[in-house]
Amino acid sequence: MTLKTVHSVAEMRAIIAGWRAEGLRVALVPTMGALHQGHISLTDLARRHADRVVVSIFVNPAQFGPNEDFAAYPRTLPDDQARLDAAGVEMCFAPNVSEMYPDHFATSIHVEGLTNVLCGATRPGHFDGMALIVTKLLLQALPDCALFGEKDYQQLMVIRRFVADLNIPVDIIGAPIHREADGLAMSSRNRYLTAQERAIAPTLHHVLQDIATAANRGNLIDPLITQGKADIKAAGFGEIDYLEIRDAENLQPVTGTLARPARIFVAARLGKARLIDNLAITPPQSVG
Ligand code: PAF
Repeated sequence: MTLKTVHSVAEMRAIIAGWRAEGLRVALVPTMGALHQGHISLTDLARRHADRVVVSIFVNPAQFGPNEDFAAYPRTLPDDQARLDAAGVEMCFAPNVSEMYPDHFATSIHVEGLTNVLCGATRPGHFDGMALIVTKLLLQALPDCALFGEKDYQQLMVIRRFVADLNIPVDIIGAPIHREADGLAMSSRNRYLTAQERAIAPTLHHVLQDIATAANRGNLIDPLITQGKADIKAAGFGEIDYLEIRDAENLQPVTGTLARPARIFVAARLGKARLIDNLAITPPQSVG
């Protein structure tokens, strides 16, 4: 089946209704386009859970702050369509802004707690805008499952929360971070990096690995974070929005030494890009 691109909710629903009538399972992979191999790994995983895969492409204005990169965000629909077609995806849903936010749109969604730390602290309103559009996409497509990458681990936790709270009947599936050979987490925003910045960028992952290894050996967390920030700065990064270890399940801060499964999170600026990454850390006693 070749890729079919639709731009309206009605067209998408009509096609999905046809699949449903045949008893087929449907997976949705929400994206903002500028697709890379990380997105394709999500569609491959989606294929293992469903008979038909829908990828949405929508650069959602509501999740960008006034000084963020909404206007500059890469829009590469023909290239994205070619990638999706090659990956065997059945449908691309590429609405425009007025399809998603018609005149008189007045609804918001806010998830308490999980959204005021990490990216929520430095990008006010981001998770509200993200939660709104993901809720809309899930209700528009009503897929059996929807897939999201763990690079946006906080986003995945927020999505799991509102999907449970709002009883949206969709299985949320998280997928491991897809990395370049040198460890850099794949991201559409990596396109902003110059060649020199691209060479520096994997430092972020290496610092996370060093901290994870040392924390797993029972070292105190605070000095590891101080050293990690110094290493990131020394590599040539600009502002570090955060470098923090938090509980993997509730995102509460972790201090002292590690006692429960945790995650180390980083967001830092490099040239025009704001890069994020994260890594799981197991506490010492659960090793072996
Ligand atoms: O992760 C993203 O690309 C976006 O936040 C998402 C989930 C597609 C919502 O716009």
